[in-house]
Amino acid sequence: MADATDQQPQTKSMDDIMSLCKRRGFIYQASEIYGGVNGFWDYGPLGAQLKKNLRDVWWQDIVMNPCQGKPGPKGEPISMVPVDTCIIQNPKVWEASGHVGGFNDPMVDCTESKKRYRADHLLCFPVIRDDETYDNATPIGYVASLSREQLLEQENKKVWKRIRKAFADSIGSNEHAGYSYGDERLYSELQPEERAAVLGPDASERGTLTEPRQFNLMFKTYLGATATEDDIAYLRPETAQGIFINFKNVVDTTRVSVPFGIAQTGKAFRNEVTPRNFTFRSREFEQMEIEFFCHPEEANDWYVFWRDWRMQWWQEIGLAGENLILREHDKDELAHYAKEGAGTSDIEYRFPFTAPGFGELEGIAHRSNYDLSAHQNHPESNTKLEYLDTTRGELAKNGQPKGERYLPDVIEPSAGLDRGVLAILCEAYTPDPERPSKVFMRFHPRVAPIKAAVFPLVNKDGMPEKAAELHQMLVKRFGHLGKIETDPKQSIGKRYARMDEAGCPFCFTIDGDTLTDGTVTVRDRDTAEQKRIPFDDVVEFVATGLGLG
Ligand code: GAP
Repeated sequence: MADATDQQPQTKSMDDIMSLCKRRGFIYQASEIYGGVNGFWDYGPLGAQLKKNLRDVWWQDIVMNPCQGKPGPKGEPISMVPVDTCIIQNPKVWEASGHVGGFNDPMVDCTESKKRYRADHLLCFPVIRDDETYDNATPIGYVASLSREQLLEQENKKVWKRIRKAFADSIGSNEHAGYSYGDERLYSELQPEERAAVLGPDASERGTLTEPRQFNLMFKTYLGATATEDDIAYLRPETAQGIFINFKNVVDTTRVSVPFGIAQTGKAFRNEVTPRNFTFRSREFEQMEIEFFCHPEEANDWYVFWRDWRMQWWQEIGLAGENLILREHDKDELAHYAKEGAGTSDIEYRFPFTAPGFGELEGIAHRSNYDLSAHQNHPESNTKLEYLDTTRGELAKNGQPKGERYLPDVIEPSAGLDRGVLAILCEAYTPDPERPSKVFMRFHPRVAPIKAAVFPLVNKDGMPEKAAELHQMLVKRFGHLGKIETDPKQSIGKRYARMDEAGCPFCFTIDGDTLTDGTVTVRDRDTAEQKRIPFDDVVEFVATGLGLG
């Protein structure tokens, strides 16, 4: 997570956002009536529609109308086809991709609290005696924490008492200990003897954290009834490999030619050591991935193209402000498949729980031909994945290129759908003490789960019938994009308040005047202003508001 202390921190409360998500049916804890299951989340009616809308908008702008018609680096149209591949594949796929051998996180257990942590997430702050200056003190141990903020938050009597007690033998009963910010190191970087003096985040004694052990993140299952070692299969940890192993199928069965992309959305599963921060790090989540195949000489230009366009896309659907950044990776951050010297960047959002830092929303990686080459070279794949490019190569006598065979390089924009939904929820959440709801959700109209609402002012005098007529008109035109709400009960103020919390951009009210002068009231979610427009103009009004006009 990047640091951005020069910018304004996110000031929204994650607890408030989570409580609205529960109260209004966006997101529930999975298996809640059984006490939940760590790292899994269910989407309620509003959340399911919000998530579907984000997935659909991505699909529309990537597959149906790639990059909204923006041409590629040489002015060419973007060519993109979709696939929908299996969650379970032949386990050899994951041997070749490097996931069986290398998709590991270093895990640490606390023998006292029985809690488990990622060794590369645990920050260890040096503890020093209060009578020493920070500059030349020798640490008498470390206090570990999952974040600076967590330790700061705890900077109260409780944490001091815990530290003093744990280090009493080193500091004596009358002395104090302090811990030093800025000099923290990761638990995974400490020497074994230093680890023996670490006070775990939930421990009362030092040295209760185990040595880090590598832990493979793939979920295992068994195919068939015998359940032996030979029947082991894995739930996919990324959708990407389903694309790579179908590269040849797609080339052979469609009219695509390099450069082109294959896109896929779908579930991925990772047995995260420490799932946390609401849906941010889940064990079951959904990805939206593109593998864009191009000639190696053009890969850098395509990398820049995709990096910039993906950033623009997130901005266009509502993450427009300073909470979104594009960050190029440092050299030491590169994933095993990323090409050395070539670009890899993250689009990051400042979530309330990462502020003032940022958390990854999408990665754009130059994967070179790492994956195609790994599948081609696996002894059991038996398949040449080279592409014959008939537009390249020396010219033959007839003046036509002879063709060039190569493994294309790949640029991969890989986004998390659930993280996207979470960022959109956080960004949309807008406290407003003046409103009865005290908060409204400022969703971009393209992703808003409810597109419009129609209310009869009272449930009589011909108003419900007129409202039903307008509701049907709107459902027919916009029902495939999201819900069109109608609700005849409760005071109009309460109905507006419910729509504010659901983030519905437009509410139309049918009243006595509608029946005489043919106008309706439209209320704008963001300004709460109301005006009258002709009943017959409502459909066009909504179309314009949704960007379809
Ligand atoms: N094929 C490349 C790949 O999977 P990744 O950075 O591991 O790269 C891509 O994952 C995206 O998937 C991330 O940017 C993030 O949005 C999402 N993601 C990864 N792990 C996740 C998790 N445990 N929970 C929710 N989303 C996750």
